[in-house]
Amino acid sequence: MSVTPTPADRFSFGLWTIGYTGADPFGGPTRSPMDTVHAVEKLAELGAHGLTFHDDDLFPFDSTEARRRTEIDRLKKALDDTGVVVPMVTTNLFSHPVFKDGGLTSNDRAVRRFALRKVLRNLDLAAELGARTFVMWGGREGAEYDSAKDVGQALERYREAVDLLGEYVTDQGYDLRFALEPKPNEPRGDILLPTLGHAIAFIDSLERPDLVGVNPEVGHEQMAGLNYAAGIAQALYHGKLFHLDLNGQRGIKYDQDLVFGHGDLHNAFALVDLLEHGGPGGVPAYDGPRHFDFKPSRTEDEAGVWDSVRANMANYLLLKERAEAFRADPEVQEALAAARVPELAVPTLADGEGYAALVSDRSAFEEFDAAEYLDGHGFGLVRLQQLATEHLMGARG
Ligand code: GCO
Ligand code: MN
Ligand code: MN
Repeated sequence: MSVTPTPADRFSFGLWTIGYTGADPFGGPTRSPMDTVHAVEKLAELGAHGLTFHDDDLFPFDSTEARRRTEIDRLKKALDDTGVVVPMVTTNLFSHPVFKDGGLTSNDRAVRRFALRKVLRNLDLAAELGARTFVMWGGREGAEYDSAKDVGQALERYREAVDLLGEYVTDQGYDLRFALEPKPNEPRGDILLPTLGHAIAFIDSLERPDLVGVNPEVGHEQMAGLNYAAGIAQALYHGKLFHLDLNGQRGIKYDQDLVFGHGDLHNAFALVDLLEHGGPGGVPAYDGPRHFDFKPSRTEDEAGVWDSVRANMANYLLLKERAEAFRADPEVQEALAAARVPELAVPTLADGEGYAALVSDRSAFEEFDAAEYLDGHGFGLVRLQQLATEHLMGARG
């Protein structure tokens, strides 16, 4: 089993993930802060390809320009020394008290103007480091109370902000695209653009929709009770999967940010199968970074952090191997055919056929025997799922 990652696998990690100190609402840190250069060196040693970060992960919110530059230059040197790259950068618009009612959609206009300046400054840094994707997670863009936020106006202000940022990268000639990250709740009671479907609909309202896609996170869709792999298939279908956050979640509860594969393993299998092989109907395979946004549990010391990093990548590679075996198994191919999965690619109407021809086709209705479907025409979907399960458990080829 080849579970040793290499940079060709394009695994990337957030600096805030490996640097998570374990602080939660009920207790302080259980680990000391991690030095950025050390993080880059360890990621390189473990076979990762990329590091991503929020501005505030790299230098404190209130850094002087000199301190900010020092931290950027230290990072750049570590990247040069190791070959690690920065595929994505994002901005922290949620930690500082100024963002308590949001950044780009705060009711307070001065906060919105400040937030925009913080993002613009970070876009320059993203371009300087060669990032191709700029993630926007609006963790504080929301409310606890319905009368506290005019959702329509909040969407207007968010649109105004994303349009301005799109104009900025276009004018600067930056090779950067935006990826909106949905989340239903936490830290706000309800967050704007709670699922990837909301985000994709919002993108249609923008001035430069081609510049904007989504960055869906496994746990965030699952917190809303949704099927992540199915959502990713739809994002791919709309050409909007610009980036993704892989992790694990066990059901509808707080955002767990577990290791990828330590949550819903069946859905993780379906996801890797989709990302690697593409979906039915000509959906293309995903070709972006495999980015992990997880939190090493606060029970872990630093060795446990690196075990968690290894586990994310190993689980992805194991699932990729299992998905390959699944696809290559003749019995699976036969079960897929019996379940008529490929038949869904056949258009419902024949070439050139319209509603008039359909209405005059007696075999489609008058002579069609719907009664046969009682007791007949089973699809065999349980057998197919059991084959997937056996492959997933390593019980077949
Ligand atoms: C979460 C979020 C964040 C964002 C990240 C990017 O777990 O609630 O995933 O981790 O992805 O902050 O802005
Ligand atoms: Mn999360
Ligand atoms: Mn995330």
